[in-house]
Amino acid sequence: MRLRQIFYVFLLGMFVGLSLSGLIYWGFTSIWFGNHLTGNLGRTDVASVTPWLAPIVWEGTFDSRVIDSIYKQQNITIATTVFALGKYTRFLKDFLESAEEHYFVGFRVHFYLFTDQPEEVPNVKLGQERYLTVKTLPSMNRWQDISMSRMEILEKLIENELASEADYIFCLDVDTKFYGRWGVESLGRLVGVIHPWFFNVPRFLFTYEHRPKSQAYIPAGKGDYYYTGAAFGGSLKDVHNLTKTCREQMNIDTANSIEALWHEESHLNKYFLYNKPSKLLSPEYLWRDISMSSGSVKIIRFSHVAKNNAEVRPNL
Ligand code: UDP
Ligand code: GAL
Ligand code: MN
Repeated sequence: MRLRQIFYVFLLGMFVGLSLSGLIYWGFTSIWFGNHLTGNLGRTDVASVTPWLAPIVWEGTFDSRVIDSIYKQQNITIATTVFALGKYTRFLKDFLESAEEHYFVGFRVHFYLFTDQPEEVPNVKLGQERYLTVKTLPSMNRWQDISMSRMEILEKLIENELASEADYIFCLDVDTKFYGRWGVESLGRLVGVIHPWFFNVPRFLFTYEHRPKSQAYIPAGKGDYYYTGAAFGGSLKDVHNLTKTCREQMNIDTANSIEALWHEESHLNKYFLYNKPSKLLSPEYLWRDISMSSGSVKIIRFSHVAKNNAEVRPNL
């Protein structure tokens, strides 16, 4: 009889003990206890940090609610520049409409739109605290010149107008569309976006400028990533230095009768080699064509749209 009682007490003890350990384990792992804020983030299938400890932003490496609430307290303005010269005004409607849906939703955004045809700017209804300033500018005969001239125009815009108007700036191609969230997780001092063609490609295939005569020259074996020229950003001070340096380097190239292989993108890559970005955005933040998929890119946030270069550009 006594033995049986001891046995029951033992069983009860086991039951209580196991239940308690279960509860404690559940408490540590359950999202009910808020552990999702600190746990379960990170990717193992892609690099999410550079060798100089800059984050590479991928889906699954941040919690949008946490990061939104941090930046909400800061009352920030994000200036965003976009150029639509010549036939590229046709891209504006989709660009602006999709930005309203996905780009820094809930934050103050000021678009600066440069065009030679202000009358072609579509009337897109912007949300609260979202502003659009249209600036008129003559077009140019070569698309390469249009693309490169952006650096100087951005440099001057930051110098002359943005100082007290914005905290961050992003400079984006217009032949693009947003498909998913692009938010405050992208903000940083100096931000580069990994070019969608080169994120899983060996360095020797990167299309850096390899002619020493150009100021964009990067020696073989040097370089970290291949960054796109279609999207970059950061603090006003850092992007000012970037645009000013690229403009100066391109002027030297012109004086030496050389044009870098990929124009301002080559100079941007040179700049980022010696001025490391403090944050990198994965190709989720600039994909090449929405119809192409990739294993690591789980969300396409922003993508080039398909375009017929021969038809939209002023020259070949
Ligand atoms: N651009 C423009 N009009 C032109 C050519 C270029 O407004 O005739 C601007 C536009 O903002 C475009 C950017 O320059 O997104 C870069 O040119 P493009 O998109 O043709 O280069 P790609 O991305 O095809 O290399
Ligand atoms: C292309 C892109 C060009 C340039 C080039 C670099 O996909 O259209 O603008 O970035 O890659 O190799
Ligand atoms: Mn483009």
